Amino acid sequence: MAQDNAPSPADGARLDFSKAMSYGDYLHLDRMLAAQQPRSRDHNEMLFIIQRAAFKMLARVARVMAQLNQSWDVLATLTPAEYSSFRDDLGAASGFQSFQYRAIEFLLGNKDAVRMEPHRHRAEIFTGLDALHRESSLHDEAIRLLRRRGFTIDRECVERDWRAAYAFNESVCEAWVAVYRSTAGNWDLYELAEKLVDLEDAFRQWRFRHATTVERVIGLKRGTGGTSGVNYLRRVVEVELFPELWRARTAL
Ligand code: HEM
Repeated sequence: MAQDNAPSPADGARLDFSKAMSYGDYLHLDRMLAAQQPRSRDHNEMLFIIQRAAFKMLARVARVMAQLNQSWDVLATLTPAEYSSFRDDLGAASGFQSFQYRAIEFLLGNKDAVRMEPHRHRAEIFTGLDALHRESSLHDEAIRLLRRRGFTIDRECVERDWRAAYAFNESVCEAWVAVYRSTAGNWDLYELAEKLVDLEDAFRQWRFRHATTVERVIGLKRGTGGTSGVNYLRRVVEVELFPELWRARTAL
């Protein structure tokens, strides 16, 4: 079990899929996604087709997350025996290789270059993820907005290598505390803060339900993607996307 707790960022996950079936290959995602052919350039049409991602409106994203979270109730009815009957056929394929999930994490601000590795053999996917990795995230942009609105924010938060993992910053926390103390004068920032907390709340619930469902289906077995399984998933439940917004509550 010592290996399960090794401090490797990818926790032993298989990272090379140039010669093996990834989960996207298994689901034939490219064929499925190719069926989405919007006839206009309006992003609402895509929502209409796939009833999913619309990152523009955080309220909508929250509703999408609520729906995703509910779907765990259905998957939780899968018994260990039922899952075991086809698990071996998955080979090394796992949700760990979801580039869409990594894209969401990068967009939100949870950056980690190792998570791009399973896609190195697929140039167009790797390039897309790499671009998101280098760009500022939703969290970075919220912090930049605080600074533009006159709050004192440390320079290293607004001008930095966006690829680096974000670490809690006191000046950002103080700015959010000030927003919450004077909501009338900062109504839009206050609204943004609450939307971000809603989003992270929903995301945490998704991670938690995933870890719990996986535990009831496979116990403490290793994942098909090679990680320690539930131990790995429990650790990602602890990821904080917007740490200052949570810490600000202690100061209020
Ligand atoms: C019985 C059903 C499921 C089982 C047993 C399962 C198991 C696992 C395990 C063990 C991992 C860790 C990586 C590995 O070593 O494989 C993982 C990761 C992941 N799974 Fe699942 N999973 C299930 C359902 C789902 C569903 C329904 C989704 C999405 C709709 C999903 C999405 C993901 C994602 C995105 C990751 C990567 C998480 C991260 O790295 O933070 N899984 N899954």
